[in-house]
Amino acid sequence: DQIEKSGYDHFMLKEIHEQPKAIIDTYRGRMLADEGIIRLSGIDDNINRFLNAERIIIVACGTSWHAGLVGEYLIEDKARIPVEVEYASEFRYRNPIITSKDVVIAISQSGETADTLAAIKLAKAKGAFVFGICNVVGSSIARETHAGAYTHAGPEIGVASTKAFTTQITLLTLIALKLASKKGEISKPQLREFMQEMQLIPKKIEALLKIEDKVKEIAAVYKNATNCLYLGRGFNFPVALEGALKLKEISYIHAEGYPAAEMKHGPIALIDENMPIFVIATSKGHYEKVVSNIQEIKSRAGKIIAIVTEGDTQVREIADHVIEIPETAEALTPLLTTIPFQLLSYHIAVMLNKNVDQPRNLAKSVTVE
Ligand code: G6P
Repeated sequence: DQIEKSGYDHFMLKEIHEQPKAIIDTYRGRMLADEGIIRLSGIDDNINRFLNAERIIIVACGTSWHAGLVGEYLIEDKARIPVEVEYASEFRYRNPIITSKDVVIAISQSGETADTLAAIKLAKAKGAFVFGICNVVGSSIARETHAGAYTHAGPEIGVASTKAFTTQITLLTLIALKLASKKGEISKPQLREFMQEMQLIPKKIEALLKIEDKVKEIAAVYKNATNCLYLGRGFNFPVALEGALKLKEISYIHAEGYPAAEMKHGPIALIDENMPIFVIATSKGHYEKVVSNIQEIKSRAGKIIAIVTEGDTQVREIADHVIEIPETAEALTPLLTTIPFQLLSYHIAVMLNKNVDQPRNLAKSVTVE
């Protein structure tokens, strides 16, 4: 066990630290940045199904569903194809409208989630083309789909998903770019520039992982909170959901993720001096609007922990704590903003003496309904 953890106290921490390499493994051989080419045989071989798709439906559960939401923002923004994201468990039972003009993308780390598998079978029966994004090679979902691509994240043992999430986002980014370039929505130089930016992500994550001590200090301050709120907008709204899920899963602290602007439609009623609020306020993502959300929190005495872009000064003046992430393209920020949330949940759970790798009542893979 200790050998498998390579010196880390828990699999989760090891897997958090493996992300720079896992992301490289996801895009290696697929992203030829200097040439401006993306190779994904599962898409190349079926390109007409994608280009003729009236819409893409993403089905998944849990963390994979959060990656799917980032995928929706990516594919609509870059490739201009309508995307819907569905919980597999809802989709399979709500008599959904599916036609042979639909492309379904099923996302699953394990490739064994019962609801996702059932959603795939339903979509296939209705004539849709089904593409799988799995981590586990040869898994049921990988076999059941018409085509697909593996994330190549390596084994993920910790129940709370970390590197599976960031590698799923990496793959979804490649898919969005590939479709964008095939549809002529992105020029070759733009594609090249974006991919070059993407190649810098692993190094930027490495740099971010070095702020662990600072995250630990923040964890120590808020570890006894009973409720937390996570806010983000745009590409970082799903990261807020995922941040809240990570905290719930392993520390058993109640947490909710919300789109920052929706705060005023409910969660704002909960804000007082006992409420820590984690806000993603990166420079390119509707920054001014998020800053005004932060001011609203401040005026209600909520505690603000903000994730900002390096060099930010405005939020620093208002927030109780800031965590800086390196500058990158807006669409790539989820790969960075998610890292401090993973570390934070991890350290809170450790400080509370929880079973980080095998939290109560949860399973790594839910193979029954
Ligand atoms: C379980 C796991 C989660 C995971 C979800 C979906 O709930 O604990 O970490 O996100 O299943 O699993 P999948 O293997 O389909 O991605």
